[in-house]
Amino acid sequence: MKLGVCYYPEQWPEAWWRDDAMRMAEIGIKRVRIGEFAWSRLEPEQGRFEWGWLDRAIEVLVAQGLEIVLGTPTATPPKWLIDLYPDVLAHDRNGRVRRFGSRRHYDFSSEVYKRESARITLALAERYGSHPGIVAWQTDNEYGCHDTVESYSPAATAAFRRWLEDKYSTIGALNSAWGSVFWSMEFGSFGEVDLPNLTVTEANPAHRLDFQRFSSDQVVAFNRVQTDILRAHSPGQDILHNFMGFFTAFDHYAVGADLDVATWDSYPLGFLEQGWWDGETKNRYLRQGHPDIAGFHHDLYRGMCVGRRWQVMEQQPGPVNWAPYNPSPLPGMVRLWTWEAFAHGAEVVSYFRWRQAPFAQEQMHAGLLRPDSSLDWAAHEAMQVSAETRRLGELAHERDDVALVFDYSAKWVLDIQRQGADFDYFRLCFEWYGVLRRLGLNVDIVPPHADLSEYRLIVCPSLPIVGASFVEELKRSEGVVVFGPRCGSKTSDYRIPDGLPPGDLQALMGAKVLRVESLRPGFEEPVLDGGAVIRWIEHLSLDGAEVLAATVSGLPVWIRKGRCRSLAAWGDEALVFRLMEEAAAAAALKTVHLPRDLRLRSSKDMIFAFNYGPDSVDLAEVFEGVSGFDFQLGGSVLKPAEIAAWWCAASVDLDLDSSHKGDRNE
Ligand code: GAL
Repeated sequence: MKLGVCYYPEQWPEAWWRDDAMRMAEIGIKRVRIGEFAWSRLEPEQGRFEWGWLDRAIEVLVAQGLEIVLGTPTATPPKWLIDLYPDVLAHDRNGRVRRFGSRRHYDFSSEVYKRESARITLALAERYGSHPGIVAWQTDNEYGCHDTVESYSPAATAAFRRWLEDKYSTIGALNSAWGSVFWSMEFGSFGEVDLPNLTVTEANPAHRLDFQRFSSDQVVAFNRVQTDILRAHSPGQDILHNFMGFFTAFDHYAVGADLDVATWDSYPLGFLEQGWWDGETKNRYLRQGHPDIAGFHHDLYRGMCVGRRWQVMEQQPGPVNWAPYNPSPLPGMVRLWTWEAFAHGAEVVSYFRWRQAPFAQEQMHAGLLRPDSSLDWAAHEAMQVSAETRRLGELAHERDDVALVFDYSAKWVLDIQRQGADFDYFRLCFEWYGVLRRLGLNVDIVPPHADLSEYRLIVCPSLPIVGASFVEELKRSEGVVVFGPRCGSKTSDYRIPDGLPPGDLQALMGAKVLRVESLRPGFEEPVLDGGAVIRWIEHLSLDGAEVLAATVSGLPVWIRKGRCRSLAAWGDEALVFRLMEEAAAAAALKTVHLPRDLRLRSSKDMIFAFNYGPDSVDLAEVFEGVSGFDFQLGGSVLKPAEIAAWWCAASVDLDLDSSHKGDRNE
């Protein structure tokens, strides 16, 4: 459990570095990420490197006992490079060139840029690959930020055509897979296929899905060029990348497969402002962020790399600059977010950034220091966490009992034909996750290719394209399985499966889908015994499944066959809560009803409670026996933005509903 900070020595006078490093160490910071935007200072002209300043910056930081994460600077190709090779610039959806003057202006399909990125990565790796102060490398910075995964350039067009030819071999196979006969869209050769932008109305969904897959593969390939070089020249040092929140434009699992550690950038207040929540929710959590934003991503990124190692690379320290509105966190929230990450298993929580910059794009973005170098509030909270982590020692973590299957291509498939304007796959997963967390459950978010054998409850909010190996894995698993709407609704060629949805899942679900409908906002169809269907409903023909719940109009929406339960609709919160509680009981999992604003997370030995709400929460009203808890942090009453932690051994008498004994072997 280390604290870190993002630092830009190139942005400050060298005379300040030593003092900065000393103050970082005083605050309790152990790690510093540097370098990821410094290309213009590392190589001011092509081939002329200036290493001196970076050598000295590293030396000054290491002298204070700080460990360095060194970023490759490829998110910001400098002006001379763009002038020499203008074709490295990406093109937007309208085909316009994206200009120099901010960042991430490069095209993943530019072979020249891949070569330049390899060149600067190699130069850095050769110089610092065996430097004892460098503990990890960060590749690039936030792949895809500012909508940059896709480019509509001539380079992308050429690369996409090659990708299609590799995939389909013959243009006939492509035409047939895409159903190009529809609207006379047939192609005579791969050279005729354009990118799916600027069409009169929507482009062919199969074309769009393949372009998304291609664009994702380009990110993976770009990253791999750097990881190959870094592994060769810096053996044994961790390679990581900082992923984003709520971002799905490339397959993160595929990039994660080439990394040692997944890291992500946590900005709960910015994400809340940008998200789908209504005004009441945004106001309630204005200065805390929605209680599941951080937790969801912690649990997602824990599943990203084989070794399940992950960190927070950028933690919001105060107001940010990039959301429509940028409130200030409640006093205590920076500490809460930091502890919550550790409770979910983070190795490091690193704040963005050290000092607020009084110049350029992010001058309205807080840091640990104000522009005048005085300590901002977050620095005091970081100091408190640092003292607390020293007192508590390391936490041990175990695999969780609940798996939530999350898939990037599911998001692409469902976005391409939403069918209902507000059918958002990410939101669906997030809402199901939130309900599981309100039941007090720890959740692992996993890819469809995960080993599911150890989980007692496997929830799959949606998975439109189902691979044969996933079906086999589900059959091998012993847990209770819950499917959500639109599972098995498409083939990998973006067609409705022969024999109707859910395709290969029909035998497991015991039903098929005859028709689907989307419902406008404000319309709801109550379900008998509580909750309602909103947004989406599927009309089923049952084949072996029994009906557990139906709408008042008689449509079966919650069905069960053996270990598998399916919700053939988008449920409102009350319905999903009721169904998940029933499924958890069937899986013999203990659940508890948490108040709306409280979240729990247990490590092997310790339970943490986090109050995200505007009011105090008394744990004595949630648990019995709280007077016997051996509190290590906080106590029974949590004021807003407060946390508590106690040893698990003291909580065996949690007030758990004894009806949740379960029928796991049904
Ligand atoms: C991140 C990015 C940082 C900085 C930060 C501001 O998206 O990685 O470089 O821009 O946001 O919140």
